[in-house]
Amino acid sequence: MAANDMADDGLIVIFGASGDLTKRKLIPALYDLFVEGMMPERFAVLGSSRSEMSDEAFREHLTPMARKSAHAFDDASWARFIERVRYQPGDSTRSEAFGPLKKRIGEMAQAYGTGENLLFYLSLAPHLYDDTINNIGAAGLVTEGKAWCSLNRLNRPWQRIIVEKPFGHDPDSAAHLNRVLGRNFEEESVYRIDHYLGKETVQNMLVFRFANAIFEPVWNRNYIDHIQVTAAETVGVEGRGGYYDSPGGGAMRDMIQGHLLQLLALVAMEPPVSMRADDIRLEKGKVLLAARAARDDESPLIAVKGQYGPGRIDGVDIPAYRREKGVDPESQNDTYAAFDVRIDNWRWEGVPFYLRSGKAMARKTTEVVINFRRAPHRLFRSTVSGPRITPGNQIILNIQPNEGIRLRFQGKVPGSGMSIRPVVMDFDFCQQFKARPREAYSTLLLDAMRGDQTLFKNREETESAWRIVQPVLDYWTAHPSDDLPNYAAGTWGPADADRMLAHHGREWHNE
Ligand code: BG6
Repeated sequence: MAANDMADDGLIVIFGASGDLTKRKLIPALYDLFVEGMMPERFAVLGSSRSEMSDEAFREHLTPMARKSAHAFDDASWARFIERVRYQPGDSTRSEAFGPLKKRIGEMAQAYGTGENLLFYLSLAPHLYDDTINNIGAAGLVTEGKAWCSLNRLNRPWQRIIVEKPFGHDPDSAAHLNRVLGRNFEEESVYRIDHYLGKETVQNMLVFRFANAIFEPVWNRNYIDHIQVTAAETVGVEGRGGYYDSPGGGAMRDMIQGHLLQLLALVAMEPPVSMRADDIRLEKGKVLLAARAARDDESPLIAVKGQYGPGRIDGVDIPAYRREKGVDPESQNDTYAAFDVRIDNWRWEGVPFYLRSGKAMARKTTEVVINFRRAPHRLFRSTVSGPRITPGNQIILNIQPNEGIRLRFQGKVPGSGMSIRPVVMDFDFCQQFKARPREAYSTLLLDAMRGDQTLFKNREETESAWRIVQPVLDYWTAHPSDDLPNYAAGTWGPADADRMLAHHGREWHNE
C-alpha cells in the first residue's frame, strides 16, 4: 500500500504540542518507530503551542508518559530520540508567530539535515484549524506548489499536513475546512486522520475479505441478514466533559460519524481495482455515497440517543454524565448512539447495518458482527438444545481488545441423539503472529512520512459521513428527550436500542 517502503527524511512540526495527544500518543508512537528502526535516518520533531517552555522543559514534559506508553522503553534509546525533539512557543492562529517558527524550522532542517520535507500535525482545538492552516500557507512554508505537474516527481521535497478529528461539526463546517485545506495544500498532501484505520485488525478486514476466495461469494444480501458494528467503552468522558458536551461532541458525531462509518465502508465496499490508496478510497467513498440519509420523520425509527446515569463499572461507582466536570447538568448530549444505516446498492439492498457506540458501557469492545441468514431448511428443528430457533452463522471481527476473528456455526453436542449447539472457531491475532499489534498512531505517522494516504480519509469521505448523520442530529436538536439519562453506567445502553432491533426480530450481540 505504501508509496515508498521507507519513510522519507523530514521534520515533523506538531501544533498543539503541549496537549494530551502529543504526550500520550504522538511522541510514544514516533519513539516506538525509532526503536523499531523505521524512522528515517534524518528526522526531527518540533513541538509548538502557546505555553512558554524551553526545549528541556518540553522534553521533561514528554518523558513520563513515553516511559509508560511506549512498547519498549529504554533510557539509552530515549536519550537518542529525545535529542531530536525541540519546542517553539507561539500562537499558531497569529501570523506573527510564524516568523520565529519559520526561522526555527530552517535551523532544525539545517542541524538535522531534514531538507525541505515538512510534516505538519494539527493537534489543536478545531476552532484553531482555519487560521493555523492559512498561516502555514501565508508563511510560504508550503513550497511544493502544484506537485502533480512537477517534472521530477520522485525527488521533489514535500510538505504534508495531518488533520486530527473532529473534522468539522456538521456538513458545512467539514466542507469549509476542506476548502481551507485545498487553498493551501494539494489533496495528495492532506492526511485526515482516523486512528481506527491504523488499527491492525481494521486493516486485516481488507485482507480477510479480499485475500480469501471463500468469503466474497457470500458477502452480500443473498446470504447476510444484517451487520452490527459496535464500539463500546467502559470509560465515561474522562475529564473531557468540556469538549464532549460541546456542539461538536456526542457519540453520533465523535464515534459514529468519526470512526464507525469507516468500518462500515470497509465491510461493505466492492473489491478495489488495486491496493493503491486512491482505488481503496474510491470504493469506500462509493459506499458512503450510497448510504441513505434519514428523512425527517424517520429518525426516531432508525436512531436511538442515550445518556448514562449513575452506575457501577468494575466495582467502581460512576457518576451520571450530567455530574461530570464541564458538562451541563441539563445536557441533552448523547453518550450513546445507535443508528440503523442502509446502503442503497445492489449488494446491500435490504441489509441493515446497525451501528452503535457508547461510553460507560458494560464491556470494552470494538467489533463487527456479520450475521448470516439461517439455514433455509431447518432439519434439526425438533432436536435443537438451547435456543428455540437455530441462529444463523456469525463472523465476528474483533477489533479490540482480544484482536481476532471468530466464526460461529452449529455443532453436534457429543453423545447419542442429535443435540446441536453453536460452537466457535477462533483466530487470535496475538497468539497466531506472536506479536502485539503496532499502535495505530505509529502506523499512521509512518504512512504519512512515506506518502501513503490509504489509511486516511479523503475529502469526499469526510463530507459524506456528515451528510449521513446530520438529519438525525437535526432531529435530536429539534426534539429534546425528556427521558435522559436513559441507561445506567455499566450496562449495554438504553432499552430503546434493544427495541429498535427487536422491532426487526433481531438483537444486539452483547457478549
Ligand atoms: C476518539 C474519541 O477518537 O476515540 C474518544 O474522540 C474515544 O471519545 C476514542 O474514547 C476511542 O478510541 P479507542 O482506540 O480507545 O477505541
